[in-house]
Amino acid sequence: MTCDRKNGLFVRKSVDQVRIESVDHGLKRSLGPIDLMFLGVGSTIGAGIYVMTGTAAATFAGPAVLISFVIAGFACAFAALCYAELASTMPVSGSSYTYAYATLGEVAAWTMGWLIVLEYGVAGATVAVGFSGYFTSLFGDFGIHIPAVLTTPLIHVADAGTGHVSIDGSVNLVAAAIILLVTVPLLFGVSQSAAVNSVIVTIKAGILVAFVAIGVGAIDPANWVPFIPANEGGFSYGWPGVFRAASVIFFAYIGFETVSTAGAEARNPQRDLPIGILGALTICTLLYISVAAVLTGVVPFRELGVPDPLGVAVEAMHKPWFALVIKLGAVIGLTSVLLVLSYGQSRVFFAMSRDGLMPPLFARLHPKYCTPWGGTIALGLGMAIAAAFLPITLLGDLVSLGTAISFAIICFTVIWLRNLHPEIERPFRVPLGGFRVRGIWIGVTPLAGILLCSAMAGPLLFDVVQKIGAGNPVPAMLLGGHALAGAAIYMLYGRRHSRLGQGLGPGAQ
Ligand code: ALA
Repeated sequence: MTCDRKNGLFVRKSVDQVRIESVDHGLKRSLGPIDLMFLGVGSTIGAGIYVMTGTAAATFAGPAVLISFVIAGFACAFAALCYAELASTMPVSGSSYTYAYATLGEVAAWTMGWLIVLEYGVAGATVAVGFSGYFTSLFGDFGIHIPAVLTTPLIHVADAGTGHVSIDGSVNLVAAAIILLVTVPLLFGVSQSAAVNSVIVTIKAGILVAFVAIGVGAIDPANWVPFIPANEGGFSYGWPGVFRAASVIFFAYIGFETVSTAGAEARNPQRDLPIGILGALTICTLLYISVAAVLTGVVPFRELGVPDPLGVAVEAMHKPWFALVIKLGAVIGLTSVLLVLSYGQSRVFFAMSRDGLMPPLFARLHPKYCTPWGGTIALGLGMAIAAAFLPITLLGDLVSLGTAISFAIICFTVIWLRNLHPEIERPFRVPLGGFRVRGIWIGVTPLAGILLCSAMAGPLLFDVVQKIGAGNPVPAMLLGGHALAGAAIYMLYGRRHSRLGQGLGPGAQ
């Protein structure tokens, strides 16, 4: 153990210690490489492609949303390679949180854990809001009209550059309900949940392939002209819009790294985690670019800013039966994302709680199902509240921002660990080599990851600040509130109860 009481906040686990914890954690090792890849795809394909591609094209990039997908895809690919190296080195529950604990110290670990709340917890809420859009549309097709007061959030904020904020009496109960429903299978254990997830993933990926296959014949190339519409001020179109859209649809890629949170439940983590992470990202990237090309080719981009853009595209193909299939696929697909994101978040809380940084509720395992049941329920309630009150664009931006920062930290961690512990066995190493500056090794892959993730976070931060000036402080207040809450919990609880900080071995129950 590397435990320096004098350095308090910077106390850190040793990599060996992290490996030992991976052996003695109480969770079942039941997942193989295909399960892990399905876990990744299941948590990746969701509201990003089904909802945000439309918003990103209509509001920011036009048909050039394809370029945005490529930019965001590269950012994720570099981060994915870094995840794969760390996951193969430290195959444990908790993913980036644990990696940070073993390398950068306790404060960095807490920061990472708190960023993951944005990445998985708030992402879950975002996906649930996307679900409510398609669910409402599907039921509408059967003549059942769910009142808007039950499917729209309490707070409405204007998307691009304006300061308009309004509060009305609606609450998105449909979104909250699906989160609570999804919590139930998670309480019964990962093997059952992963099996159900595999079937659902097959269905939703199949439906996206069918969308491309059927839609390709309905493309009107005139819809792709101009490919990059001229800038109309701020982030509306042009290259600024392409990058802003990249930060929006960055959301669509989030989730592939959920695979690394399952390290503690993988049968052969050193080999299977890299396969799961990179395989999931490759499948998703190919699907996204194809779907975005068909979507913008079939419908003029300005008409895509709706809750169910793929539904609109299929209606434009004059295939009403297929619209039903797509909406049903979206409903199933979004449910599966929610399942895996909730799973990932509960396991990160599990790891933090075992280390004493979160209350014991999050690490207490169910005697029969071996799941952290109390924490899973608490998490479901928190996500349901966020989904009921906040709009999808705002939630999605918070997720993308938190994730871009946490991915950049992951890339930095690879550089840090290579310099600090070059001797550790690394079954998977990031490609493209590196160079030395004053003796410090800097890898090309992690450096590219840091730069591209900064390119994702930059437009979002700029937008948050711009919105304050335009009279819309809501995004800044939510971000600031999240950061302050995290700092308060750490100072008042985590720091005092940290097992490592007290000189105790972390991970003991
Ligand atoms: N990538 C996930 C989605 O698009 C979070 O829903």
